[in-house]
Amino acid sequence: MQHEIVVGNFPAYRPRRLRSTPALRAMTAETELSARNLVLPLFVRSGTKFRHPVVSMPGVFQLSPDEAVREASLAFKEGIPGVILFGIPDKKDEKASGAYARNGIIQRTVRLLKSEIPQLLVITDVCLCEYMSHGHCGLVEHGSTKTRILNDPSLKILARVAVSHAEAGSDLIAPSDMMDGRVRAIRSALDGKGFEDVPIMSYAAKYASAFYGPFREAAQSAPQFGDRRTYQMYAGNTDEAMREVAQDIAEGADIVMVKPALAYLDIVRRVKDQFQYPTAAYAVSGEYSMIKAASERGWVDERAITIESHLAMRRAGADIILTYSARALAGWLKE
Ligand code: PBG
Repeated sequence: MQHEIVVGNFPAYRPRRLRSTPALRAMTAETELSARNLVLPLFVRSGTKFRHPVVSMPGVFQLSPDEAVREASLAFKEGIPGVILFGIPDKKDEKASGAYARNGIIQRTVRLLKSEIPQLLVITDVCLCEYMSHGHCGLVEHGSTKTRILNDPSLKILARVAVSHAEAGSDLIAPSDMMDGRVRAIRSALDGKGFEDVPIMSYAAKYASAFYGPFREAAQSAPQFGDRRTYQMYAGNTDEAMREVAQDIAEGADIVMVKPALAYLDIVRRVKDQFQYPTAAYAVSGEYSMIKAASERGWVDERAITIESHLAMRRAGADIILTYSARALAGWLKE
């Protein structure tokens, strides 16, 4: 017996890989990566036939609504069931009024997507940073000694944004602002307007992360002063993530998200094990751009490393992966 070694009186068996054929390996694979688990993020701004490359994210564009429809229908045909929308408004202000305008960029794009591709799952990110002149995710008060984010007053605006998305036809509301109590505020506002059936995917465990760097160029949402550490989580904490997720579930979240993904797979696993809830992971801009930059130099194999890292997210427990690589992955997985 080639694989048996004897230790003392007890036979010990060296763990080994399955004696297998490719068919057996496929049948017994514990984790599957498939386009059906992926969501493609899209950045939209007004205009027509507009496609503006995001320099820090090769292959990603700011799109006008018609171009977003084109991109989404290609993705949908490739087997990607959903998109998540981020808007770049024409004008920013200190109230984020572009975020809830009936004819805002998101509201217009959602209506167009739902009329052109009714089967597509349209997810809308609810946040204020892209719409605020200061780039923060909540209302800001400049006091005489310090500047603060006003948590509770921000909730009213966030709820208003969510309702305006639902009115436009959003299939899933995804608050990413990290204000406390936002899931409850959004849930009750949606229910109050007759949108009891519109689910919420909360960015429940969202870390203050340098991996968001390229996104802030794409969405033009970099904070103009300070940073997001008072409302996003510290990278060293895991118990705090459990409390955040428990709170969001208690407030009515249907799906919980961990963000970023790759550097936080322990959190994805802990969330999945502890709550057994539909769990999403967001492979954020920095994760995407690092792979792009290294593969452009020939230092890593883009295809292999992209598949491997997304497979790892699935293995960690992510049911849904939001990723800029969705279309590339769909193509590679089909081959
Ligand atoms: C906030 C938001 C951010 C991302 C998604 N929603 C940026 C932030 O918190 O600064 C980051 C996504 C990415 O990096 O790909 N609206």
